[in-house]
Amino acid sequence: MVKIGATTSATEGFAPELLAVALYKGEGPTELGEDASRVVSDGDFSGKPGETALLYGQEGSAPRLLLVGLGERDLATPEKLRRAAATVARHARTLGLGEAALSLPALPDTSTREAAWAAAEGAKLGLHRFLIHKTAANSHELETFWLVTEEGELEEARKGAIVGEKVAIGSVLARDLANEPSNVATPEYLAEQGREIAERYGMDLDVLDLAGIEDEGLTGLATVGRSAANEPRFIVLEHHKGGEEAPVVLVGKAVTFDSGGISIKPTAGMEDMKFDMSGGAAVLGTMEALGALDLPLNVVSLVPATENLPGGAAFKPGDVLEMHSGKTVEIITTDAEGRLILADALSYARRYEPSAVIDCATLTGACVVALGAHASGLMGNDEDLIAEVQTAGEATGERAWPLPLFSEYTEQIKGDTADIKNSGGRGGGALTAGAFLKEFADFPWAHLDIAGTAFGKKGNAYTTKGATGVPARLLVEFLIGRTR
Ligand code: BES
Ligand code: MN
Ligand code: ZN
Repeated sequence: MVKIGATTSATEGFAPELLAVALYKGEGPTELGEDASRVVSDGDFSGKPGETALLYGQEGSAPRLLLVGLGERDLATPEKLRRAAATVARHARTLGLGEAALSLPALPDTSTREAAWAAAEGAKLGLHRFLIHKTAANSHELETFWLVTEEGELEEARKGAIVGEKVAIGSVLARDLANEPSNVATPEYLAEQGREIAERYGMDLDVLDLAGIEDEGLTGLATVGRSAANEPRFIVLEHHKGGEEAPVVLVGKAVTFDSGGISIKPTAGMEDMKFDMSGGAAVLGTMEALGALDLPLNVVSLVPATENLPGGAAFKPGDVLEMHSGKTVEIITTDAEGRLILADALSYARRYEPSAVIDCATLTGACVVALGAHASGLMGNDEDLIAEVQTAGEATGERAWPLPLFSEYTEQIKGDTADIKNSGGRGGGALTAGAFLKEFADFPWAHLDIAGTAFGKKGNAYTTKGATGVPARLLVEFLIGRTR
């Protein structure tokens, strides 16, 4: 994996194979020499986001100069820099280089530390690929990505780069886990990942197997998981670095494969249901980053992990479950399984008397219809918490957008035979799912529906086709916010 370094251009021996300079739209390069000025004045490079121009044989420290666009100066954000850094890193890799450098631009309202953080994240995430199962992969990797700054800013740039690297490592873990097919990423495999994180950072881990899940009364998880050959797990990972403070609890849906169960899904696209554990993967990735950053907080992560498969022991439409909280649920469709396992995790979270609980889940196709791939659906029972999550999403480029949980949505899931039912029909599917979860949350709670954002058919500057790692960076940012 690429190493991020910070340096000054005056540093002895600094001679990168490629030096990139980020330019705002409509602003010509000053001090970059005649050729660079001509590329701009001749109209071959305008500074649009994502645009590049490569020049050779320039004066100065590097044999290659890459111009990369940042867009309008007034609209510049860390997200634009993340993308520009990713573009540079990918370009250098494509050229077969071992290293590249990016001169850190000044962004409005952004410190050097924040800029270095964003650039480091962008470079690392941009270079990430999931090649584990390719037997003849093009394995050339960039070794080092330098962030170039001035002497007086070097320390801050270094600090930012280190944070950015750690956050990116968490996000990459989330991607790698989510990309793994369900024959690899089983519930026990995810538990093993939790074990490794716990060992690395001295966290406490508790893993419940099927018998333990039943003993604990986690009926939703036991019921969804009981027909699968790969048994369910309930993974509890605790980071205790916040003294006596009430913890933040993170909950991640980890359905390692969602066939729909008896209410089986159509064949087309069913392979994507290996990504139905993206919430759990993101929560584990968040814990990885949290451990690496050693944040002074108490954080608990709960990952209910299971397959959803048909079979002789499978649950059926019409069944009634008595949930962990005591509420009863009538099954309308076995394909609305995520809310069943999340509901139990939420009611399990009560014992921590948490200051906030955030769950994330690839929960509804309806959310994909509502927001597409451009924002996660954000719901909850606490306006301040919702705003805090939305802010963290904006800062990280992992956007989340608020959706309402009007009491009418709760009306829509009133049960006939039981207290509530697990589907409210087609109208407002993301909201009735949120309303269902709300019945199990008696603490400040926010819900992220990541069905449209956790994986995709095409990537952007720093994501590829497949898992995006969303919302691991959002969650890390939220947690960092809680230390300020
Ligand atoms: N895992 C799916 C939701 C999903 C759909 C995630 C598309 C990612 C992409 C979830 O378990 C599900 O099947 N939801 C149903 C609920 C419905 C039956 C009430 C849905 O959205 O159709
Ligand atoms: Mn389903
Ligand atoms: Zn599902």
